[in-house]
Amino acid sequence: MEEQIREIVNRLTLQEKASLCSGEDYWHTKAIERLGLPSVMLTDGPHGLRKQKQSKDFSGGSYEATCFPTASCLAASWDRDLLRRVGEALGEECLQEDVGVLLGPGANIKRSPLCGRNFEYFSEDPFLSGELAGALIQGVQSKGVGTSLKHFAVNNQESNRMTIDAFVDERAMREIYLAGFERAVKKAGPRTVMCAYNKVNGTYASQNRLLLTQILREEWGYDGVVVSDWGAVSDRVAALKAGLDLEMPGVFPENDQAIVDAVRSGELDESVLDEAVARLIKLILQYMANKADGYRFDREAHHRLAVEAACEGAVLLKNEDGILPLKKGMRIALIGEFAKHPRYQGAGSSMVNPWRLDNAYDQAMTLPNASDITYARGYDIRTDAPDRQLIEEACNAAKAADVAVILAGLTDDYESEGFDRIHMRMPPAHNVLIAEVARANPNVVVVLCNGAPVEMPWIGSAKAVLELYLSGQGGGTALWKLLYGKANPCGKLAETFPEKLEDCPATAWFPMGPKGVEYRESIYVGYRFYDKAGVKPLFPFGHGLSYTSFAYSDLVIEPEKTDENGILNISFRIRNTGSMAGKEIVQVYVRDVESTIFRPDKELKEFAKISLEPGEEKEVRFRLDRRAFAFYDTHSKSWQVESGEFEILVGASSRDIRLSGRVRIEGTGEVDPAVWDKREPLPSYYHPKPGCNIPKQEFDALYGKPVVHPPIHRKGTFTPDSTINEIRQVLAGRIFYRILAAAARRMNRDTDEKTLRMIMQSLDEAPLRQLNQNTGGRIGKKMIEGLVLLCNGKRLKGLAKMLSR
Ligand code: BGC
Repeated sequence: MEEQIREIVNRLTLQEKASLCSGEDYWHTKAIERLGLPSVMLTDGPHGLRKQKQSKDFSGGSYEATCFPTASCLAASWDRDLLRRVGEALGEECLQEDVGVLLGPGANIKRSPLCGRNFEYFSEDPFLSGELAGALIQGVQSKGVGTSLKHFAVNNQESNRMTIDAFVDERAMREIYLAGFERAVKKAGPRTVMCAYNKVNGTYASQNRLLLTQILREEWGYDGVVVSDWGAVSDRVAALKAGLDLEMPGVFPENDQAIVDAVRSGELDESVLDEAVARLIKLILQYMANKADGYRFDREAHHRLAVEAACEGAVLLKNEDGILPLKKGMRIALIGEFAKHPRYQGAGSSMVNPWRLDNAYDQAMTLPNASDITYARGYDIRTDAPDRQLIEEACNAAKAADVAVILAGLTDDYESEGFDRIHMRMPPAHNVLIAEVARANPNVVVVLCNGAPVEMPWIGSAKAVLELYLSGQGGGTALWKLLYGKANPCGKLAETFPEKLEDCPATAWFPMGPKGVEYRESIYVGYRFYDKAGVKPLFPFGHGLSYTSFAYSDLVIEPEKTDENGILNISFRIRNTGSMAGKEIVQVYVRDVESTIFRPDKELKEFAKISLEPGEEKEVRFRLDRRAFAFYDTHSKSWQVESGEFEILVGASSRDIRLSGRVRIEGTGEVDPAVWDKREPLPSYYHPKPGCNIPKQEFDALYGKPVVHPPIHRKGTFTPDSTINEIRQVLAGRIFYRILAAAARRMNRDTDEKTLRMIMQSLDEAPLRQLNQNTGGRIGKKMIEGLVLLCNGKRLKGLAKMLSR
């Protein structure tokens, strides 16, 4: 293929080459008909296909597709094989709909439970994120369809996501925020990687040569296309130079021209453009080679897979007195409007239009014992406020039943792309309902439908809690299988559930803004913090119960010592000691017993999901390579291992270690460990405390220089990168905003409420350069430049520019 690609590049004119570097519209690349190169559709993703009926934007709705559980739920399955199969199904749906690249998966780390998009991400742990993202990519790409690993990188919040500058120290960046991407890229080779909107340490991700070229391509060996997040490009030529091949969507013809001009003037070496174009042509040829006209996927099979995935991702958090599984003949009060109007996916660009949607109520009515099940609404999904009458009805239903099953969690308004949550609480209507029903009947089973952790003030009065997450179109069916033990819950948390938001290490600096955000907690994300600082979570990372029980034994670690290239072999036995078939997710953590550099208490380095019949025993084997013991050394800019004792911890969760052993690992000896000793300047990082109160000067010392947030743009300093919020400081900006907001509402009158809210919120925070994309192409570059001049007080020049369009 290489030769064919080179030949095509040679036949393209400069103009054509530049044109390939941006989209034709919202979802397609440009075709070069003269050479038979078709345009390729790239579309969302990640947990189902969202192919819009119109090419322009979000309006017009999308074609029907299978809605699988979202990433939080898929991640809780810890099941690479399942993720691969879901990927295959997604790939098949793309083939049917003639989509060349599915925009997903998202491998961003869950830095705070509040990130509005956590439901679309896998985990707080990069190893788990990377393994699962890799498996999903392998599945999709096995069907000949491309993926887009996103959002690269350090995109961990929605607030000001288009412009925020994320200040993260080099070690945290490598060990936490990049490691999952690295794993997925090396393991699965996604055809595209999507750069994030935000800045990383001062430079837009889209223009970040360190990220896009030095790390991604040169270090990790990535040879695919880098595509921008939709509207993430600020300076097209700078982005191309940094390694960004494709700008999406294609909105400014001026940007293609800027590339042409830069080559002509000598500012841009044409070979840089040729490399980008070669990668794009490869993507196009791959699409052509795999196109499957007339292909139909098996809808029923995909639905069954969606149900299976929902079962595998459900986490049994608590099960007192073995109340679950429900016993035959029990009278059940099914409570909560989610039973009829399920919360099964999140809002934003990932929102799928499911061809079928199972709800818990309808599914209950198909059960042989349907007559044992009564329903009470419990709350109104449109409001947070407790409704006395609905609660009373629910309490009465609970009193007349043996068990109350309450579906609760977060409503649509809480979790979406485009904005973050502001607290970790569930709606009062849900919390009050659970507390009161528990008083009416102590046999309460709470089923949670949410994309991210919530506080559970009622935990003491619920007998069982089943975390269903956002379980996709099959969730309603999966629920009854789980409740009645037709499926044995086997998911485990891929994220910590802290007791309260204040416990979370990032809370003091999340989402910060308006222009910058400090990642002061550094590598202490999720369990890495809770375990080190001794903060007891509500439910720890890796936790999940089962209807059966497992015994771990016979840990063998070989060899006892590893040399420089040493691989460590680990084996142990696991036995199902209960009376029901089940699956156990076994986890291997590594602890550096004593280290010169500050390190977490333990880190996940391997895992597997083992299926066992009652009484069955299996041997589990893992191989740990050197990287499992390494940290990123900022002095030598490489992964280093410090010689010494390490503990291998085998557990059922991060806080339930069943087996452990010690091993001595020899470091490379390349670096004198004395340089790693920062105990004096960085005491808070060596001994993080509850509350994670890291002083600014310590963070600066870790960061390497004082962190200075970019200034808010003011009159005189506005540029196309200024946000609409910023220009609202001046009269012209305020007038413009009013007109724009009214137009946006008008344009999106057919758009659903949730998406509209995201669009309106994004509008405020969007940089002016995105106006074109956000207005379906109505506002061009000249107009934006004119607006900038106007807001800067240059009225005549501004008006002249605007009129010159
Ligand atoms: C989102 C991406 C998405 C893209 C296209 C962006 O706003 O951040 O995740 O793939 O839109 O819809």
